[in-house]
Amino acid sequence: MVENTALMQLTNVTKVFARGSVDEIKALDQVGLPIYNEDFITVIGSNGAGKTTLLNIIAGIFPPEKGGNITINGKDITNLSEHKRAKYIGRVYQDPHIGTAAKMTIEENLSLALLRGQSRGLSIATNRQRRQQFHSALAQLGLGLEDRLNTPVGTLSGGQRQALALMMATISKPALLLLDEHIATLDPNTARIVLELSELIIKREKMTTMMVTHNMEIALRYGNRLIMMHKGRIIVDLNQQQRSNLAVSDLVTAFERASGEQFADDSILLATPEG
Ligand SMILES: Nc1ncnc2c1ncn2[C@@H]1O[C@H](COP(=O)(O)OP(=O)(O)O)[C@@H](O)[C@H]1O
Ligand SMILES: [Mg+2]
Repeated sequence: MVENTALMQLTNVTKVFARGSVDEIKALDQVGLPIYNEDFITVIGSNGAGKTTLLNIIAGIFPPEKGGNITINGKDITNLSEHKRAKYIGRVYQDPHIGTAAKMTIEENLSLALLRGQSRGLSIATNRQRRQQFHSALAQLGLGLEDRLNTPVGTLSGGQRQALALMMATISKPALLLLDEHIATLDPNTARIVLELSELIIKREKMTTMMVTHNMEIALRYGNRLIMMHKGRIIVDLNQQQRSNLAVSDLVTAFERASGEQFADDSILLATPEG
């Protein structure tokens, strides 16, 4: 947190799915959340807590219910389309297939990512300069992708593809980076590599970030702030100082105190480092 004015502010954000049906579900319930410049927020909560819905609302996939409000740098973007928000927001999903286009080459994928959110009229055709930029960016990943610019992305491993998705999400330096369990499908070793790459890029670019993880240890180890969601609400919001020296068991206690419920999600406790 660098200054007290929020980069992004969510106020009274509620999202109801299947309204009026027997399946009606309040995925977000009056969420208020300031996101400060250079915050690196880790987000935890059991399945269905509303984590992905929160990222979807921030990315503009759908608007909040009436009465909810989202601003970025003080500007109201509540009804700004996903497309128009793209220049502010980079995102990596759990599924490596979502962030990248399999039939296109690494270079074409990166070119598209670079153009996203920029003014129209720019050609998609790559030039030498751009290729140079991609080459050095990829070299930093340490995965050998810099020499495979013409390789179709579909032939890469899950980890390579997710590293590329990360690069694509950050290459145009968005104001906010959203990571939604982006290492959950990778084997533990690859997950660790992609996670460390994420932290490297986030720190180097001083990128404001929200990272959803189902691993409490990772949630405590990375970032400077931790929020816990439960039934569509943010029930715990810990800053750097409050978080330091906490162990996973303290988070469980915090959950039980804030929710008034017994902690029953063994999958979170038992998860290996992002397994
Ligand atoms: N597009 C949708 N249509 C209907 N229900 C949805 C949709 N997206 C999410 N939900 C429901 O909203 C709740 C929150 O989901 P989600 O935000 O995906 O949780 P999380 O990411 O924390 O696991 C869940 O009950 C889920 O089934
Ligand atoms: Mg989710």
